[in-house]
Amino acid sequence: MDAGKILQEIAGQVAVCEKCELHFSRKKAVPGEGPAQAEILFIGEGPGFYENEQGRPFVGQAGKFLDELLAKAGLKREDVFITNVVKCRPPGNRDPQPEELLACAGYLDRQIEAIAPRLIVTLGRFSMAKFIPNAKISEVHGQAVWVRGRLVVAMYHPAAALHQPSLKATLEADFVHLPEFVKMAKSKVGLEQAPVVQTETEDSDGAQGAADKEQPTQLSLF
Ligand code: URA
Ligand code: SF4
Repeated sequence: MDAGKILQEIAGQVAVCEKCELHFSRKKAVPGEGPAQAEILFIGEGPGFYENEQGRPFVGQAGKFLDELLAKAGLKREDVFITNVVKCRPPGNRDPQPEELLACAGYLDRQIEAIAPRLIVTLGRFSMAKFIPNAKISEVHGQAVWVRGRLVVAMYHPAAALHQPSLKATLEADFVHLPEFVKMAKSKVGLEQAPVVQTETEDSDGAQGAADKEQPTQLSLF
């Protein structure tokens, strides 16, 4: 099956999914959207009010700011794939719970496999934790690390900058580097240069999946 068909199939399954409690309160599930061949995959936290109404990711205030950030990096929304760690809205925008993250993880894992993005950009701490557990966003934001063969950059969540204006400039500065990271992933130059997150053990118990037991090595390079 080609990537587009796989993504459609996943979207169909997400739309009727009842694997966790979030399905009770959702209006529309939000599988994510973008081209199957996208070079960059953005992973946010979960749908908010407007996303739940429309079934589309990042269409509210945070989404508007995300569009601005993409523009700063010379990117268009149509060129990137945007999704979330949970596909249904947590009531009142509360944090997604470990069992919900675990229940939903398979959809995201299959999306990553189908899209095979050059670069994964995590937005906020829940998607960061999937790849770089125990990291502090204030220490690792904007830096590219290899995780299980994929280049990953953790960013502050755009909504955080709406509440904390000092983060706006940080996010803008971090986004500007995205095209360089894509180039680096393509040339694989960074494989020797960028720090690699070591896999110590595989596990299957945590909400963050196998990433739980991985410790990032020194993260600073760029
Ligand atoms: N915030 C997110 O994390 N995801 C969305 O889709 C919208 C807002
Ligand atoms: Fe299913 Fe994920 Fe929605 Fe839970 S959040 S019901 S696991 S699609």
